[in-house]
Amino acid sequence: MSGAPLNAAVSERGVLVIGLGLIGGSLLAALAENGFAGRRYGVDLDPQEVARARLMGLIEEGGSDPAPFMSQVSMIVLAVPVLAVAPLVARLAPLLTPDQVVTDVGSTKVAIRDAVVAALGALPEWLVLGHPIAGAEKSGVAAAKATLFRHHTVIVTSAVHTDAAALARVERLWQACGAQLERMSVERHDQVLARTSHLPHLLAFSLVDTLARQDQRLEIFRYAAGGFRDFTRIAGSDPVMWRDIYLANRDAVLASLDEFENGIQALRRAVEAGDGDAMLATFARASHARHYFDRLLTQKSYQVMESTSIIYRARAGGDVSGRIRVPGDKSMSHRAIMLGALAEGVTTVEGFLEGEDSLATLQAFREMGVAIEGPHGGRVVIHGVGLHGLQKPAGPLYLGNSGTAMRLFAGLMAGQAFDTTLTGDASLNRRPMGRVAEPLRLMGAVIETAEGGRPPLTLRGGQRLAGIDYQLPMASAQVKSCLLLAGMYASGDTRVREPAPTRDHTERMLSGFGYLVTRHGDLAHIAGGGALTAGPIDVPADISSAAFFLVAASITPGADLVLEHVGINPTRIGVINILKQMGANIELLEEREVGGEPVADIRVRHAELQGIDIPADQVPLAIDEFPVLFVAAANAHGTTRLRDALELRVKESDRIKAMADGFDALGIVNQVVEDGIDIAGGRYGGGEVDSLGDHRIAMAFAVAALRAHDDIVIGDCANVATSFPGFIELASRVGLQVSAEEVS
Ligand code: S3P
Repeated sequence: MSGAPLNAAVSERGVLVIGLGLIGGSLLAALAENGFAGRRYGVDLDPQEVARARLMGLIEEGGSDPAPFMSQVSMIVLAVPVLAVAPLVARLAPLLTPDQVVTDVGSTKVAIRDAVVAALGALPEWLVLGHPIAGAEKSGVAAAKATLFRHHTVIVTSAVHTDAAALARVERLWQACGAQLERMSVERHDQVLARTSHLPHLLAFSLVDTLARQDQRLEIFRYAAGGFRDFTRIAGSDPVMWRDIYLANRDAVLASLDEFENGIQALRRAVEAGDGDAMLATFARASHARHYFDRLLTQKSYQVMESTSIIYRARAGGDVSGRIRVPGDKSMSHRAIMLGALAEGVTTVEGFLEGEDSLATLQAFREMGVAIEGPHGGRVVIHGVGLHGLQKPAGPLYLGNSGTAMRLFAGLMAGQAFDTTLTGDASLNRRPMGRVAEPLRLMGAVIETAEGGRPPLTLRGGQRLAGIDYQLPMASAQVKSCLLLAGMYASGDTRVREPAPTRDHTERMLSGFGYLVTRHGDLAHIAGGGALTAGPIDVPADISSAAFFLVAASITPGADLVLEHVGINPTRIGVINILKQMGANIELLEEREVGGEPVADIRVRHAELQGIDIPADQVPLAIDEFPVLFVAAANAHGTTRLRDALELRVKESDRIKAMADGFDALGIVNQVVEDGIDIAGGRYGGGEVDSLGDHRIAMAFAVAALRAHDDIVIGDCANVATSFPGFIELASRVGLQVSAEEVS
């Protein structure tokens, strides 16, 4: 990017930077490097700094007094200590002409605004208070760096009278230096900075000072390891500058210091009492948050988040053979965390799916005070707190892309003593939650939803729930599970009837935790007031992830593949039943029962598939596998017909439409109806398809490429990580030719 004309939109006739320190110098350097067309002037009280700036080519002219340069410029940047900003603004005000804009770079804003108002009577429209969130421990113009602001945030604040054009000009100046812009009020700016910058600096100064004053100071510094160095790096910052910051941002700093002191007191009590669970809960929560933060901070993920997405390139053709184990079952992984957290005792989970969705569930329980170790290689240790042991989370619980998590959490949170808000990503926030909110309200829950019954959901705590007798309007394991989980917190009995069998992992796992659930035909029954007892859980490989390979091998001549340790719960094997009916060659090997769930190795070989009418009773049993089953249909002889599958329209995407649109692009003949689709098998080509951010659509088209006559490029694939981390690697291992790329 270096040298690119980033500043095409910057049309200042000249810029004057007052204060040639690290920030001022770096701004000039960035403007110079990015081809800023106007002249650059610099002012500093220290003549040597001015001379150095000139020598470095940062400025064309400079001095110790701004007056001579004022008429040459249209933008004036005050890069001076925070306490010096307001007096300087007052001094410059009478010299300004109407086209001039003044901005600053100070790290506190309220005090500057108040001082300017005190001096001038109001905040002038030409003054835009700004703050680049960038810096280093080095100071002085010699440390100037043209790339200092690249991919960093610059906050600009606006007040009632701020001129919109002035604001836009300041934003363009920073954009020209590669920065990302963020607007906020001066008050919010100061609160945010107090927490994220001023508090950590105060702690670093204090810790180093405390240790450095002790007798064995040299000893301590000699043995201090990397951790100490990392933690205290910012204590090397400019003392005068930081004194001014604390003088200027007193109230917000005190508020964040109070929060910190509460936290440190709680940890002190835990250490004193030897309360390992309390320590673990805090440390694990913090550790996870730090790792997440790390990802946000790396430039790579920054770009992924802001302006790039993942595409898959699936080359036409390929083989399918070998022996693999796909990641753990998503449905069971969510439930294992939930029940383990609410059990009495310690639950060890093996085979946990380390996908983004189940990790979000895990983190949500950490937010509610549950100590959870791992995951490490699929192993998670949960220190259960009992059904009534959760603590109020500090903020909304973020559940990623997962409808299952949100609906099951709704049932659990309805019975808690505290309020909770559940939210998720853009796709989840579009999905219908009325299906759980309505029956939960019948039980006495108080729930607010966004318009149309969509997330976020806010569940009011302290409600007395009563059991209900409920007939599910749709075949949904999520709604059934939600009500059974709420039923544990309700008085009396909760009975749920389903119109067709759906996955029964909740019932099985509750029983495994010693909480009785009885089942008679279409009825599941639970009584409130029981308890969960911790026990080990072995999560088998997810049949929904295995499904991609069942189809891949079935459609590829010569294929012979074994999928190990796959869960074959009868409520999940619709995909096997349907494929077998189409003529697939699938064998279940070494069928066994592991922790209350049937498991097998599955051998699948190529076969000539026939189109079928998919039996309606198989639809709920294969509900997540239709995208890839459609690919099987596209490779079968004749037509495959699906009906009674309206639920597919409210999954992570409208899966009927998403697949039909992709098929149209590849030349696969299909006819969509409201609750299903007809697919004609035959030859098809390559092309570009959009997964719409739906993991299963993305993987289905990767499988389709095995028999396509040209490559398939699949858009918006990042969400594959929600259910199938490592998909590309595993697919490549068996012979698919698919790779991932970041694109802007
Ligand atoms: C799930 C139930 C199904 C399924 C989802 C997981 C579960 O959803 O599509 O991926 O874990 O209970 P519905 O209950 O909406 O059918």
